[in-house]
Amino acid sequence: MPKQKKFNLKPEIDGTTIKRWAVRIAVIIVSSIIMAVMVRFATLSDEDVANSVLRGEPILQIVILSLINAAILSTLFTYTLYVKRDSDVGIRDKTVPVIAVAVLLTFVFSMIFGSLVSLYIVPLSLCSLLVATLVDRRVGIVTNILISQTFFLAYILVYGTENAVESSAALVTSMVASIFLIMFLDKAFSRLKFTVVGMLVGLCTAVIPMLINYLVDANETTTILLSGLWSFLSVVLSLAVFMIVLPLMEYVFRLDTQFKLQELSSLENPLLKRLSREAPGTFNHSMVVGNLAELCAEAIGENSLLARVAAYYHDVGKMKNAEYFIENQKGYNPHDDVIPEVSVAMIISHVTEGYAMLKKARIPDEIADCALQHHGTTPVNYFLYKAQNLTEDNLDRKEFSYPGPKPRTKVAAILMITDTVEAASRALAEKMNSPKDFRALVHNMIKQKADLGQFTECPITYKDLDEIEDTLVKAIPSMYHARIQYDNNNRDREKKD
Ligand SMILES: [Fe+2]
Ligand SMILES: [Fe+2]
Repeated sequence: MPKQKKFNLKPEIDGTTIKRWAVRIAVIIVSSIIMAVMVRFATLSDEDVANSVLRGEPILQIVILSLINAAILSTLFTYTLYVKRDSDVGIRDKTVPVIAVAVLLTFVFSMIFGSLVSLYIVPLSLCSLLVATLVDRRVGIVTNILISQTFFLAYILVYGTENAVESSAALVTSMVASIFLIMFLDKAFSRLKFTVVGMLVGLCTAVIPMLINYLVDANETTTILLSGLWSFLSVVLSLAVFMIVLPLMEYVFRLDTQFKLQELSSLENPLLKRLSREAPGTFNHSMVVGNLAELCAEAIGENSLLARVAAYYHDVGKMKNAEYFIENQKGYNPHDDVIPEVSVAMIISHVTEGYAMLKKARIPDEIADCALQHHGTTPVNYFLYKAQNLTEDNLDRKEFSYPGPKPRTKVAAILMITDTVEAASRALAEKMNSPKDFRALVHNMIKQKADLGQFTECPITYKDLDEIEDTLVKAIPSMYHARIQYDNNNRDREKKD
């Protein structure tokens, strides 16, 4: 019986962890100071604002403001750790910079439009949309609440309490609009659709500040109408900047969003086009795995588009030595001319080659990680047995196994399962005639991976594995049905002839 691992309550602290935390703290401190300086600078530059609360020693005020900002950013980051404990390990290191950049950008745009057009243009939705899209929707909503309160505080400090009701109305409206936009993020699969719906949200929520201003003074028709206009423009501005900034942040931080995944799923993508030209067999295999992975992810409540896209790119590394992979061979098998050790090195290298290619093409980390993990640490049995037949020496099993790491997310585990099941069912399709055959095949494939300990580093459960098995048993026969029917008919005809 394998020795049971002791549960370690204390996280291991090594050089990388210390460096990671140092970067996080530095980002929080720097962005907090920038925001504090901006608030203080706005107060000094606006001579007309006689009500400013901030008077006196600027350095001390900047220090105090920085501390307040740092407390808010740290709270957001802590909340991110709290909600994202089990999944999405890819984003964790980038959370602080992403939140800091999103908050800073919103701050800068608010300052610019506040001084150029109107105080009540607050692109608050920009911040929450960026965080919701790049980090997590729940964190986006908490960001929305915390940042709007911070903005309100900044308004009071800079402009005094004279316009408190109007500022508050603008911020409440932005908060409401942001929540609707965040909820809609999941449903909108194109940037255009999202923009159109965003504008509608902007129009509907513009009523809120108008009603609040009506309560304050029903005779101030211009103020009432203008508050609606500023509110609408706040949402439009947020959406416009969001659409420009999001692709830049996706690129810089190598993060995937539903929008980015949509783009990557296009077969016009240069890497996929190259794959279809240089390794057509692998390309077809990846498309089928994409369909299966999407179905499985849907069945267990994971991101189905991410699963599909990860499957599309999981074997791009095979382009380097395409003819060494069975699906691309047309008669000639180059493995016949080399020793098993060389063969296995060629086969195994496709995971690291693929990972390097995806990194170079700046494909989001989550997809590159799936490519690296899709074979885990499994052995390449065919060449291991072939080598064992050629020698009496004891072979190092590790040399005939993939380097890992094992799947770290549920999507990576789905990819591992669908990849092997697709390859095996393609090879055995003709021999399988009943649903029982398909179930036996899928069950054995999943069991084999589990027995090899391939799911010990990801949060997948037995229930998930059952769901995946059921999904594949239903999906595979229909996928190969046409081919099997065609082959059987032909065989029957040949027999008759
Ligand atoms: Fe592979
Ligand atoms: Fe594959």
